[in-house]
Amino acid sequence: MGNFEVMNHPLIQHKLTIIRNKDCGTREFREVVNEIATLLAFEVSRDMPLEDIDVQTPEGVAHAKHLTGKKVAVVPILRAGIGMVDGILNLIPAAKVGHIGMYRDEKTFEPHEYFVKLPNDIDKRQIFVVDPMLATGGSAIMAVDALVKRGVPESNIKFVCLVAAPEGVKALQKVHPNIDIYSAALDDHLENGYIVPGLGDAGDRLFGTK
Ligand code: PRP
Ligand code: URA
Repeated sequence: MGNFEVMNHPLIQHKLTIIRNKDCGTREFREVVNEIATLLAFEVSRDMPLEDIDVQTPEGVAHAKHLTGKKVAVVPILRAGIGMVDGILNLIPAAKVGHIGMYRDEKTFEPHEYFVKLPNDIDKRQIFVVDPMLATGGSAIMAVDALVKRGVPESNIKFVCLVAAPEGVKALQKVHPNIDIYSAALDDHLENGYIVPGLGDAGDRLFGTK
């Protein structure tokens, strides 16, 4: 069974408060989403495997560590997930980036997939699926479906978001029990498909489309 974890680091919580504010404008919203994504990347990468390596310093040999294990792919769910990509690449610059395009029907909130483009070796990578919002869970479930269909084991997938609704966490865990879910916050509930209190429509706030 995968984990669900709320990332309580004070900087993450402080920055999340900034973007929840309805008066936070597009430019600041975009900047702060990326900053939170960097902090989340730091937190969710803490179990990356290391191996011993000797390195020659100017003064001698250090018995040191470097990363080993799977290479990383960051997979944003379009559109809003794009807002988190640069923040993660700040810390993991060699990661490849795949894209999964998904929109929710405005009335039923059912997700519709419209685009999938992934690195060829996606089944061998450690994957961070990123999307600011986990609401009903429909988009996240369908994005993970798209990866599993291409041979990715659930245990290679971490879902990273900013705000989750209890309903979405439960739905995602039910369908894909072996992925880890990380969020900067677990909010109260859903109302008409929106997370309450949440932060509104993440895509519109990131791209200034409202
Ligand atoms: C938003 C958000 C998630 C989805 C979450 O995207 O970015 O992808 O809703 O809702 P769910 O958990 O109920 O599926 P939206 O469909 O509004 O598209 P956008 O990113 O293009 O704005
Ligand atoms: N998508 C968003 O962008 N916000 C919500 O509250 C729910 C889904």
